[in-house]
Amino acid sequence: MQKIAIAGYGTVGGGVAEILRRNAAKIAESAGEPVELKYILVRRDFPGDPFEKEMVRDFSVIESDPEVTILVETIGGCGAALEYCTRALKAGKSVVTANKQLVAEHGAALMELAREYGAGFLFEASVAGGIPVLHPLSRCLGANVLEEVSGILNGTTNYILTQMLENGESYADALSNAQRLGYAEADPTADVEGIDAARKSCILSGLAFGKNVSPEDIHVEGISKVDALDAAFAESGGMKIKLLGRTLLQNGKRFCFVSPHFIKASALLAGVNGVFNAVCVRASEVGEVLFAGPGAGRYPTASAVIGDIIDIVKNPGRVQPAGWDACNEAPASFSQFHARFYVRVPECNKAALEQKLGKI
Ligand code: HSE
Repeated sequence: MQKIAIAGYGTVGGGVAEILRRNAAKIAESAGEPVELKYILVRRDFPGDPFEKEMVRDFSVIESDPEVTILVETIGGCGAALEYCTRALKAGKSVVTANKQLVAEHGAALMELAREYGAGFLFEASVAGGIPVLHPLSRCLGANVLEEVSGILNGTTNYILTQMLENGESYADALSNAQRLGYAEADPTADVEGIDAARKSCILSGLAFGKNVSPEDIHVEGISKVDALDAAFAESGGMKIKLLGRTLLQNGKRFCFVSPHFIKASALLAGVNGVFNAVCVRASEVGEVLFAGPGAGRYPTASAVIGDIIDIVKNPGRVQPAGWDACNEAPASFSQFHARFYVRVPECNKAALEQKLGKI
C-alpha cells in the first residue's frame, strides 16, 4: 500500500482525488498495489466535501509522516509549490507535478535534488494535459536523435481560436467559456499571450535537446492580436491559424519559440480543434509521430498525474529524464530562424515597409 498526499485542491488536485477514489481497483491493478490518498493540503475549509477528513492545513504534517511516499503538487506557480516540492524531495518523498511554470523554471534543479535524495520527480501532466508525451519522448523514442518537437500546447487558446474562427463566437465569450470549463490559467493572460505554451516548449526543449531553456530567453507571441482579417486571409489560402510552440534544430542551431502559424488546412494539426492539443515529433529513426488528445481540463490532466504516480510506485526514484543539463543555455535568437513570415499592417506603404523589413 502506497500513501500519497495532494497539495492544492483546485481543478486538477480535486480531479486526482476523485479518480483515485473512483478507480481505486484499476489503479491498484496498474500500480501493483493500492494507492491511498492520506492527506490533501488546503488553505481554507471545505465543509461537507467528500474529502474533508483527509484535509490538513499544515504542510509539516505531510512532510513528517513517514507513511507518505509521494506528494502530488497541484498548487501552481513557484511560491508555495516550489517550497513544498523541495521539502518533500529532501524528506525522501517522490513528487508528481502538473505545474509547468515550476518545471520550466526550476525543473532541472528539482530533478537534481530528486536524484540526490533517491526520490522520483515526474511531470507528465505539465505538457499537453492528458496526452502521454514526455514519457514517450524520453523512453519510447530513446533510440532516436530528435530534430523537432512542435505542437499546439495550449488548450485555452486552441479553444478560443476554434470558437472564434470556426464557430463565430466572440473572443470574450470564448475566453470566459474556457475559464468556466477549467482550461484557463488563474490569470488567462498566460494562455492568450503564449506564456503557458512557452513554459511547455521550454520543457519539451529540455527533454529533446538536453539543455535547460528558460522561458524568458525565448520569443513568445500569443493570439491576442489575431483577428477575423487574419482568419479570412488564412481561409483564402486554404490554411488555418494555430498557436504553435516549437523547439527544433535548423542549420545546426537550436531554436525554441511560440508564435501563431498558418497551417495547411489538409495538415493533421489543422484538424486539432477545441481544447485538444497535439505534439508532433520529428526524429531520426521513426520519422514523424503525432500525439494528440485533450490538453487541459480536470480529468485528462488528473489522468496524466496518476499515470506518473503509478510509474513511481512501479519504479521508485524515477526521474524524467536522465541528462537534462541544469545550466541554462539560451537557444539561438528567433531573428536567425529562417521561415516565411506574414505581416499585417494597417496601411500599405510599401516603401516604408521595405525600409524596416528589407525588400518585399
Ligand atoms: N491553461 C492550460 C491550457 C492548462 O489551456 O492548456 C493546461 O496546461
